[in-house]
Amino acid sequence: MTGSDDRTERLNPGRFPIDDKRVYDAYIAGRKSAAVAAAVRAGLFDLLASGASSFDKVQAEMGWSLRGTRSMLDALIALGFIEVLADGFTASADAAAYLTRGAEGSLWGLVDMEVDSFLSPAALLEALAEDKATVYGGEDPWAAHEADPAKARAFTAAMHSVSERPAAGVAERVDLASARRLLDVGGGSGALSIALARANPELECVIWDIPAVCPIAEEYVQAAGCEDRVTSRPGDMFAESYPAGFDTVLLSQILHDWNFETGAALVAKAFAALPPGGRILIHEKLVEDDDSGPLANQLVHLDMLVWTEGQQYRVSELTELLDRSGFTGVERLRTAGYWSVVLGVKP
Ligand SMILES: C[S@@+](CC[C@H](N)C(=O)[O-])C[C@H]1O[C@@H](n2cnc3c(N)ncnc32)[C@H](O)[C@@H]1O
Repeated sequence: MTGSDDRTERLNPGRFPIDDKRVYDAYIAGRKSAAVAAAVRAGLFDLLASGASSFDKVQAEMGWSLRGTRSMLDALIALGFIEVLADGFTASADAAAYLTRGAEGSLWGLVDMEVDSFLSPAALLEALAEDKATVYGGEDPWAAHEADPAKARAFTAAMHSVSERPAAGVAERVDLASARRLLDVGGGSGALSIALARANPELECVIWDIPAVCPIAEEYVQAAGCEDRVTSRPGDMFAESYPAGFDTVLLSQILHDWNFETGAALVAKAFAALPPGGRILIHEKLVEDDDSGPLANQLVHLDMLVWTEGQQYRVSELTELLDRSGFTGVERLRTAGYWSVVLGVKP
């Protein structure tokens, strides 16, 4: 059985009748992230996804103390990510799919990065006063990636793991049968380009990213066997006009890195570069206009505060941005999980 709070439902003392569970749950929630990230970094799910392991084997392979092994197993069983079998412990289906290294679509890279870049209350307090990224001690994150290949590689790996599964959703939901050349602005690992090229045999994609990221993207493209139709091109989406010759421009998780004015400028540049009939695709985790959620997307505002100069978008904000630039036929498509694409056509 996984942890349930229902047993405390009616146990509010008369002196303190207001329930404290929501507060307590919010306070304790960071432990979930910490436990999952520590297990990912240690390789616990890789071990348990490969077959059932006894307690002693888990302890020996992880190199943890007896008390530590007990605590972690208890916590992760309570969270539902580890299942107890007659002959030991095994990873749940979702942990095996999304918390193991190397599995296609796994969130391993994203969760592993938490070990080094956890959104702690102290980091958040520091970021609240600043209108810029603070994650690398105030250094511009993209300049930091350009200067330090290890940082660029770790970030791109994390983005790849964020994007691989939703990319498959975009490929399934967005009809690109008539598209021939797609510019993947700030394309990162190329997760989107790879998925779209696989789904559309006549489509060529160009990942346009900073110079440090392009060779890393090429490794992902080669591993996917897509190098004949997915290439990379180093550039700067701010300093340069968007390259010409593309009928489709994709901005996946780009606008949320920047404030609204900068986002508007990036969309206007796409409009200028596209031919009539060309399309823009914005891929983001959107917040509903009535602020009804999803909570996961609303909380990403805080990550954006620490990592970027941006914020998550509401559906209407993106729609307005595209309308304002001159795009028509603007529509929102839900693609996978928390993800959506907003499309527009240049008349
Ligand atoms: C949040 S990541 C998104 C990656 C990818 N589009 C995805 O959805 O997985 C933002 C990307 O923008 C790139 N980027 C940042 N500044 C850039 C610039 N001036 N020109 C081109 N790309 C840039 C980063 O290197 C990074 O790969």
